[in-house]
Order: sequence, then structure tokens, then C-alpha cells
Amino acid sequence: FGKIVLCVVAGYLLGSLNGSLVIGKLFYKKDVRMYGSGNAGATNTLRSLGPKAAAAVTVVDLLKGILACLIGQLISGYVENAGYVGMYAAGFAAVLGHNWPIFFGFKGGKGVLTTFAVILYITPLPALICLGIFIIVVAVTRYVSLGSLIASVCWPVVSLFFNIPTVLRVLGILMVLLIVARHKDNIVRLKNHTEKRISFKGN
Ligand code: G3P
Repeated sequence: FGKIVLCVVAGYLLGSLNGSLVIGKLFYKKDVRMYGSGNAGATNTLRSLGPKAAAAVTVVDLLKGILACLIGQLISGYVENAGYVGMYAAGFAAVLGHNWPIFFGFKGGKGVLTTFAVILYITPLPALICLGIFIIVVAVTRYVSLGSLIASVCWPVVSLFFNIPTVLRVLGILMVLLIVARHKDNIVRLKNHTEKRISFKGN
């Protein structure tokens, strides 16, 4: 049990290194939460700091999700009847850290990239299929939020076609619900046709 707690703490602290806030503050002296949608994520970094910063944020947020899983796996290893429970715990905690970062007043992002990294690390194929869905939706509509929402909601369905542990299925559904909940303002804006479409032209 102590090892699981350690996994959660490590994952949470790592997740708290919210890419948009770290890079924005360190290299641009800006807090992306003061701009655009106010979200501390890669999409809003693209809006407020441009493509280079957004690319760096994407790398950081993906890497920390993967690193959290790796650390969790190393700390707890494979547990009889529970599988890589430490890895799942650390991955989930990283998403919580990203959304509610201890280093940045608990005001973080929506956890899409970090969740994707965790799912990708644990079950690559369903994650890549959902990435494909995300890319198609964003390419067609240019709404990142809609792509995130549709791809996330597709994950539980896509994963049905794969043999994955039940605990992971439950965790995946939890992470999807979290993503949907974090997008409640985007959902309202999408309904009202006031959501901003994405542009890669920079600012
Ligand atoms: O991953 C976040 C994205 O889906 C929406 O971000 O800044 O448009 O609210 P944003």
C-alpha cells in the first residue's frame, strides 16, 4: 500500500509540472491563464504564445504522462490480481496534477494530452485510434475541444475491441469523464457557436 501512495504522490507532483505554465512563465514570462480561453493547456498556448511554445508544451505534457507511468511501474511493479496498479495510479495522479497543479495555485488544464500519454503508454493501439479520430475532427471542424471530446468519448468504445484489464477500463472511463467535465465551458461555447476555431498561423 505504501508503494501505491508513493506512486500517487510522484505522479501528482510530476503532473503538476503543467507544460503551458512552466514554459509560459519560464521562457515567455507570461501566464497563459490570463489569455484566450484561460486554460493552462497546449491549445491555449498556441493561441497566446504561438506554435513553437505550443509544440514544447505538447512534448512536456506527453512526456510527463509517460514518465509518471514509467515511475509507477518501477515503484510498484506487477501485483498479483491487480496488475500494474502503481502505474495506473501514477498515471491518473499525473492527470490530476496537470488539472490541479500544486505549484500553480491548483488552476491547471483539462488533462487531454496527459491522459492521452497515459493511455498511449498502457494500451497504445486504442490510444492511436482515438488520436486518429481527434485529428480528423480537428482537421474538419478546427475545434480542438470538439476533437478532444469526441476522441475521449470514443475511447471506452474503441477499447472494447481490445483485451485490456478491467481496472484500466474503469480508470479510462474515469479519465474520460474528467475530460468531459473539464470541457463544460467549451461545450457551452460549442452549443452557442462561440467556440474559437484553431489556427496554426501563430500570433
Ligand atoms: O485540450 C484542451 C482543448 O480541448 C481545449 O482547450 O483552450 O480551447 O479550452 P481550450
